Amino acid sequence: MRPLCLDEYEQQARAKLPAGVFDYVYGGSDDESSLRDARKAFDAWWLRPNVLVDVSRCDTSVSLLGTMLAHPLVVAPMAYQCLAHLEGEVATARAAGALGGLMTVSTMASRTLEDVARAATGPLWFQVYCFRDRAVTTALIRRAEAAGYRALVLTVDTPRLGRRMRDMRSGFGLPAHVRAANFDADVSQALATRAPGESGIAAHASRDFDTALTWEAVAWVRSVSRLPVLLKGVLTAEDAERAVAAGVDGLVVSNHGGRQLDGALPPLEALPEVVAAVRGRCEVLVDGGIRRGTDVLKALALGAKAVLVGRPVYWGLAAGGEEGVGHLLSLLREELELALALSGRPTLSALDGSVLRRRAAFG
Ligand code: FNR
Repeated sequence: MRPLCLDEYEQQARAKLPAGVFDYVYGGSDDESSLRDARKAFDAWWLRPNVLVDVSRCDTSVSLLGTMLAHPLVVAPMAYQCLAHLEGEVATARAAGALGGLMTVSTMASRTLEDVARAATGPLWFQVYCFRDRAVTTALIRRAEAAGYRALVLTVDTPRLGRRMRDMRSGFGLPAHVRAANFDADVSQALATRAPGESGIAAHASRDFDTALTWEAVAWVRSVSRLPVLLKGVLTAEDAERAVAAGVDGLVVSNHGGRQLDGALPPLEALPEVVAAVRGRCEVLVDGGIRRGTDVLKALALGAKAVLVGRPVYWGLAAGGEEGVGHLLSLLREELELALALSGRPTLSALDGSVLRRRAAFG
C-alpha cells in the first residue's frame, strides 16, 4: 500500500535497501542520543489551537532569500543519493521542483551539480564542504554559480566526521555504481575503500576536509562568491551572533541529523536562542527530525522561516524514485496545511509562540 505518512516511507525503505545502505542513511554518531533527542524535542510542545477562524484557504507559501516557494519544506543536502535510486539527486530535484519547492545539493552528490541543475524544475542551493585545498572549493563554487545555483550553504559542523558505528561495523563503502560525481575518480576510489572496522566515508573525510576551518572561512567564501551564504550547523546564540557579524544571509540550526557531536542539543531546542540572537538580521532555518506537518508548524512557531527535510527524502527516493519523493513531500505539505487549519492559523505569518505550550514534564 502507498505510504500514508513519512514513517511508513521509512519502513518501506528499510525493507528495500541493503542493510548497510539503510544503516548509513538512518544512523547517527556514537550512542545516537542526538538522533533520538531531535525527535523527542517536538514532543516537548503541545499545540494551542484557536477555533472559529476562517480556514477555507490556508497558505503555505513563503519567500526565502527572495525566492517565492509554495511551501517551507527545503530538501536537505544529502550525499550519494544514487545509493537509494539509480537517478539519485536528479530524481530528487525534479520532484522538489514539481511541488514548488527548493532543493539543496550536496558537495558529495552522486550526480554532478550540472546534471542536477539541467534536470531541475525549481530553485537549487549548493552545499559547500571546505577542503584542505581551497582551490578545490573555489572550483566547486564557480561551477555552482555557472549552473545557476541561487545560494551557498556552508556546512560548519563537520571539521571531522562523527564516529558512526553502524558504518564502521558494516565497513561501509560506496558500491561501484555510486561515486562522488563532482570529483575526479581518485576521490571515489577512496570512498569505495572498505577496510574491516572502518568506514570509507570517514577515511575520505579525514583526508580531504579542512580540520583547521575557522570564522575566516566565512569571510573567504563571501570574498570568492557573490551568491548569498548560509551557515549550516549553528546551535548557539554566540555562534549566531558571530555569523551575523560575518555577514551571512542565513543560518541553518542543525546538528547534522545527529551524525556529528553526539549529545549536541536538539536543533528545535536551540532554535529560540538563535532566533533571539539574530533579531531578524538574517533568515533562520532548522533541520533534524521533521517527520510531521505539526513538526513543521512547531519549528515555524519558534521562529524558523523554513525547515530542511533529510532522511525522509532518502526513504521516498528508495521507495519510488522521483514519484516517491514527490508523494512524500506532498504528504508533508498537506499535513502542514491541515495543521494550519486545525490550529486556526491559516497563514505561516500567523504562526508565533501563542500556538505553543511547553509540556511541564520537559521543564
Ligand atoms: C546528511 N547530511 C548532510 N549535510 C550536509 O551538510 N552535507 C552532506 O553531504 C550531508 N549528507 C548527509 C547524508 C545522509 C545520508 C544524511 C542522513 C544526512 C545532514 C542533512 O543535511 C541534515 O542536516 C539532516 O539529515 C537533517 O535531519 P533529518 O531530517 O534527517 O532528521
